[in-house]
Amino acid sequence: MNDTLNTILSHRSIRKFKEKKIDSETLDMILKAACSGSTLGNMQLFSIIVTEDKEMMRKAAPFHFNQPIATNAPLMLTFCADVHRFNKYCEYRDAETTAYSNLQSYQWAVTDAIIAAQNACVAAESLGLGLCWLGTITYNCDEFIELFKLPKNVFPVACIAFGYPDENPPLTDKLPVEAMIHHEVYEDYNELKINKLYKEKEEHPNTIALLKENNLENLAKIFTERRYVKADNEHFAEVLENALRRQEFKK
Ligand SMILES: Cc1cc2nc3c(=O)[nH]c(=O)nc-3n(C[C@H](O)[C@H](O)[C@H](O)COP(=O)(O)O)c2cc1C
Repeated sequence: MNDTLNTILSHRSIRKFKEKKIDSETLDMILKAACSGSTLGNMQLFSIIVTEDKEMMRKAAPFHFNQPIATNAPLMLTFCADVHRFNKYCEYRDAETTAYSNLQSYQWAVTDAIIAAQNACVAAESLGLGLCWLGTITYNCDEFIELFKLPKNVFPVACIAFGYPDENPPLTDKLPVEAMIHHEVYEDYNELKINKLYKEKEEHPNTIALLKENNLENLAKIFTERRYVKADNEHFAEVLENALRRQEFKK
């Protein structure tokens, strides 16, 4: 196995970081890696907000629902889908300025931003750093748009805390690879297949402990009744839809 694969296959989220700062050389390398991935038409439809200032982290913390990683990491990177910069470029070159203010371009920009984010993650882990994504960036997108002063046509899509690990958790249990793989066409799941694919996860000691703690009968219900509840999902979907429209990503 080579070093790149070793880095990728050793990934696990880190939620406790040492106080140690990330030096500018390391940060520059992570940012360079982030900016080196594939992007649609090579338009590089993303921007990265670098947060190192603890005061900024403290301001953002409530919008991350005060998760400890929102303030205990020395570095946060927020990846934004961004067609604003390209629209500006068009404006200054007397080209069509609203060609990219729509959902299709948003989809391109999200893809570019996520590729950049994952490149940053792999680079950071290869340099001995740990990281954890914060999904709260999309829940409270309005607050982050204001905090980061994001102009129209820029939208936060991923936020990741980075730092030197102060914990050494085991690899997180995953579904077998075959669960996600389809050959040539989508091979639908029946009950038998679902039972087989989720067996190991359902029998994992962490799952057993979780069920006991929550007094629930299966792992699926941990998700639907505790972690990501329908009413919350629908609420945040509405927030997202409205914010996208306000940021002028519309039909
Ligand atoms: C989009 C996204 C949002 C996430 N949000 C959070 C979060 O808000 N808080 C957290 O502790 N972990 C968060 N995570 C980390 C996941 O819980 C973690 O990646 C998952 O459990 C798999 O574990 P692993 O990263 O150790 O493989 C997020 C991950 C992703 C990809």
